[in-house]
Amino acid sequence: KSSVVIAGGGSTYTPEIVATLVNNLDRLPLRKVVLYDNDEERQNKLAKACEIIVKEKDPAIEFLATVDPKEAYTDIDFCLAHIRVGQLPMRELDEKIALRRGVVGQETCGPGGMAYGMRSIDGVLENIDYMEKYSPNAWMLNYSNPAAIVAEATRRFRPNSKVINICDMPIGIEQAIADIAGLNDRKDMDIRYYGLNHFGWWTKIEDKDGTDLLPKVVEWVKKNGYITKDEIEDPQSEASWSDTYMKAKDVVALDPTTLPNTYLKYYLYSDYVVEHDNPEYTRANEVMDTREKDVFSACKQIAERGTTKGSYLEITNHATFIVDLTVALAFNTKERMLLIVENNGAIENFSADAMVEIPCIVGKDGYEPLAMGKIPTFQKGLMEQQVACEKLVVDAWEENSYLKMWQALTMNKCVPSAKVAKDLLDDYIEANKEYWPEL
Ligand code: G6P
Ligand code: MN
Repeated sequence: KSSVVIAGGGSTYTPEIVATLVNNLDRLPLRKVVLYDNDEERQNKLAKACEIIVKEKDPAIEFLATVDPKEAYTDIDFCLAHIRVGQLPMRELDEKIALRRGVVGQETCGPGGMAYGMRSIDGVLENIDYMEKYSPNAWMLNYSNPAAIVAEATRRFRPNSKVINICDMPIGIEQAIADIAGLNDRKDMDIRYYGLNHFGWWTKIEDKDGTDLLPKVVEWVKKNGYITKDEIEDPQSEASWSDTYMKAKDVVALDPTTLPNTYLKYYLYSDYVVEHDNPEYTRANEVMDTREKDVFSACKQIAERGTTKGSYLEITNHATFIVDLTVALAFNTKERMLLIVENNGAIENFSADAMVEIPCIVGKDGYEPLAMGKIPTFQKGLMEQQVACEKLVVDAWEENSYLKMWQALTMNKCVPSAKVAKDLLDDYIEANKEYWPEL
């Protein structure tokens, strides 16, 4: 039986992850679930409800919520890390500072993501160090954002640590692709995918018999984006997410031999994104006004009543990928999963030391990346620019370098000029005084 700690215990996703864990005890037997956060007040809003969720499934599972790293990381097999340094108010600033200057304002893409990267590196490294100190054999499954920059930092500063970087976005898109292709489950597909985090393409979608489904799906996506037939008839997701899924129709047009990650819209249609966003009310505001309120109030109710019965806590399948990955490591399943790993030749004509998102086989000793061969000039050019930008952010963090951060922002495809990059940099330095190293 395994013991897990969730780092970022106060996240609105935590109850969902806890629920997903205990709904999968047949695949992943557990002996202990720990919540860890450095914000006690916030974590306490969720902790009691999480304990009830766990105990209702199996009272024998030990439950603990703590702000003490030693207590949190002692006797742990897996750390599920989804920390958010600066929390949602800093996400709001990341988004608004850029938008107010007419530039894409997004939590992981464009200048907002780079500002967030500068904030996150320390926190992620700190958690790795706690894990290695108190449970040296444990694995960290890291999906803290911005994953691309965080992954580059783990590659550079903790090269021998047992950290696996993963993102759920390809999984969400694959579920839509499976629906569009007329399959029940994304696991009924055989896929190829390559790129960077929040920046990639599917080059193969086949069913288990080897039938090529990609052209059919591309035809659909050209017209409807990743909005499925059911979603057209009965829209489920929030407007901002449907727009992202819809806009894939214009992204796919640039290379109809592939299917794109939805996040490419921020780089390829940044003018459209800026026109459709409101600099005074961004996604962070939406999340704070909806998901955060809903999750906190559901948890409050569960805690007061002492039962989950009669309370509505939305459990999507958002978190199942984390169970799949943990099971693969714990039971050597050799499942094929998209991970963010050092390239090392997997993409033949791309830098060996870039962190890329590609299929890997996962088992008890970690992951083995699959060879993706050569990629075309269009994707290669875009990825080289983006990966340079991500590396320069980590350089800036490492060297306390204003110049490197200015270069990084100038390099980003969402930023129109070095002048705008400098203005943005000065705004972000001001806003991030408490979090960034001094440049
Ligand atoms: C997807 C991405 C995550 C990101 C999340 C934001 O799941 O893969 O990296 O954090 O979307 O969603 P939100 O609802 O907070 O805007
Ligand atoms: Mn992601």
